[in-house]
Amino acid sequence: MSRPDARDHGRASQAQSPAPAELSRADYDRFAQLIHSRVGIKLGDNRMPMLQARLARRLRALGLTTFREYLKRVEALPVGDPEFTAFINAVTTNKTEFLREEHHFRYLADQWLTPLLAASPRAPTLRVWCSASSTGEEPYSIAITLMDALEHAGRSADLRILASDIDTDVLSRAREGVYDEERLQPLSPLQRHRWFAKQGAGLWRASDELRALITFKRLNLMDERWPIKSALDVVFCRNVMIYFDRDTQARIVRHFAHHMKPDGVLFLGHSETMMGADIPFRHIGRTVYQHAEPPEGRGEPRHETPSQVRGNGPLPGGDRQ
Ligand SMILES: C[S@@+](CC[C@H](N)C(=O)[O-])C[C@H]1O[C@@H](n2cnc3c(N)ncnc32)[C@H](O)[C@@H]1O
Repeated sequence: MSRPDARDHGRASQAQSPAPAELSRADYDRFAQLIHSRVGIKLGDNRMPMLQARLARRLRALGLTTFREYLKRVEALPVGDPEFTAFINAVTTNKTEFLREEHHFRYLADQWLTPLLAASPRAPTLRVWCSASSTGEEPYSIAITLMDALEHAGRSADLRILASDIDTDVLSRAREGVYDEERLQPLSPLQRHRWFAKQGAGLWRASDELRALITFKRLNLMDERWPIKSALDVVFCRNVMIYFDRDTQARIVRHFAHHMKPDGVLFLGHSETMMGADIPFRHIGRTVYQHAEPPEGRGEPRHETPSQVRGNGPLPGGDRQ
């Protein structure tokens, strides 16, 4: 079962100071515009109560009594400012789960890795990017799927996974890799015991071996440049583009192409079809796309040198953070 966004709970309990005034329609529109331009997320009219509830906590933390004061403050902040980060962390929706949309993980093992191993006599280099990784369930699911499939085939690989998100709070939790037993339900008991260690009181922690495969890094998909150093075999970008408008979705998918190997595979969320969009990918499965730009149509990467992008660097996203 999907987990509701944890940050929507328990906010009332923090109400030590008086509740801030109501969020006005005009201020909501300005917040929504700011979020759209910086994060890409398009908030519909029906998200006003959600935004009010989430930002009320920031107001209380800062001792502010009106949303207008907070709006003026964040509008003036540079992107890297800690309060701007807190603002973004407050507005993201992070719902995720292990093996979510399980057919993608079957595709990854059976349709992608198995033929690749058959065609590679030596241990292949596999570079994977999970680009909206939330609290980590998705990148750990990718790592478990690939490691299990390699073990089953009696093969090894040089596997590295970059897991990124715009939200620094969820990234910290992902890096920790500690989950309630209930969250691990989609995994088999065998997978749970192979890849997690019990931490007492119903908590399990991803093993060192699993965590060593993944580099967690903050990255905004809206940024003009992404610090991606290797040519990627696989990109997961699931259940985040649904918040972006059509043009932004297509721009981001074209940007992925610049960082992918010629036949790299892109997984999107179940309702994020790119049918009809002008993108250099062909549809090869249920919300699965393969990079399919003809060699003559392949432009130079926009922001990095060809060797940086096409090389097989040690990690997709640079050094471990
Ligand atoms: C609904 S979760 C999906 C998590 C996971 N991909 C899945 O399918 O289970 C969406 C994630 O996208 C992240 N996100 C939203 N806007 C983003 C952006 N501009 N750049 C990178 N991540 C973003 C959010 O912080 C959130 O963790």
